[in-house]
Amino acid sequence: MSGNESSREVVVRQTQQEITREVCGIFRGIIRESVAEREACSLALAGGTTPRALYQTLARGCAVDDTPWSDVQVFFGDERDVSQDHVESNYCMVQRMLLDHLPVQPAHVHPMPADAGDLHAAAASYEQCVRDVVESGEDGIPRFDMILLGMGAEGYIASIFPFTEAAAEKEKLVMSYFVPVLGRKRMTFTLPLINAARNVILLVTGEDKAEAVARILADEQEAGKTLPAAGIAPTDGKLLIALDRPAAKAAGLKPA
Ligand code: 6PG
Repeated sequence: MSGNESSREVVVRQTQQEITREVCGIFRGIIRESVAEREACSLALAGGTTPRALYQTLARGCAVDDTPWSDVQVFFGDERDVSQDHVESNYCMVQRMLLDHLPVQPAHVHPMPADAGDLHAAAASYEQCVRDVVESGEDGIPRFDMILLGMGAEGYIASIFPFTEAAAEKEKLVMSYFVPVLGRKRMTFTLPLINAARNVILLVTGEDKAEAVARILADEQEAGKTLPAAGIAPTDGKLLIALDRPAAKAAGLKPA
């Protein structure tokens, strides 16, 4: 995607399997296009359960598709305060389900150091790592080729929870903070970094997310204040909201 305007597209498919297949094709297309244009592709991946089917589909197809995985740089949009081999670690899940099966160069994989002793320093060093690898736009903010996000039923993305310091952050691109509703610390990308991306894919499935999806799509002013996902608006990029039918139900959208 190029140009100077943010754009938003919503794609609805009947089932989780169908929307996964659709996003898989788009995902590979963005990698191919980025490598063709800039000889590299920077991705930030999501944790949670929703993208697992996508990761499995990408992993299964890699033997036969022509995605230039060796030119891909992999980052993570958020992480829990656990070690990299912990069952709750997003890095561990993504490594097992996706990266172990792909010819991505190990030096191109950048786990978040979310269990470090000094988490503020660790977040600052991860931000620096992003700056070192991902080219910045004119505003000085690195522009990921693609950021994949899931969404919680409360409308949170990455680890930007509603009414937290992360939801209000305007300067830091990566931060660590105590999330009151979890009683735990998380490291996360912030909205300024997400909104600098060339492509953001918000993949949401399941009826429990339908209410939040409807509010985001209705562009309710209130939604912007209470749902971090409503704050996704790439300044010079494209937002794709990919839904299965149950997630699109309350918004009154049907599969194409
Ligand atoms: C995480 C996330 C988080 C996730 C949502 C949705 O690490 O948990 O990156 O933002 O995408 O919580 O999670 P589910 O896909 O499990 O519903």
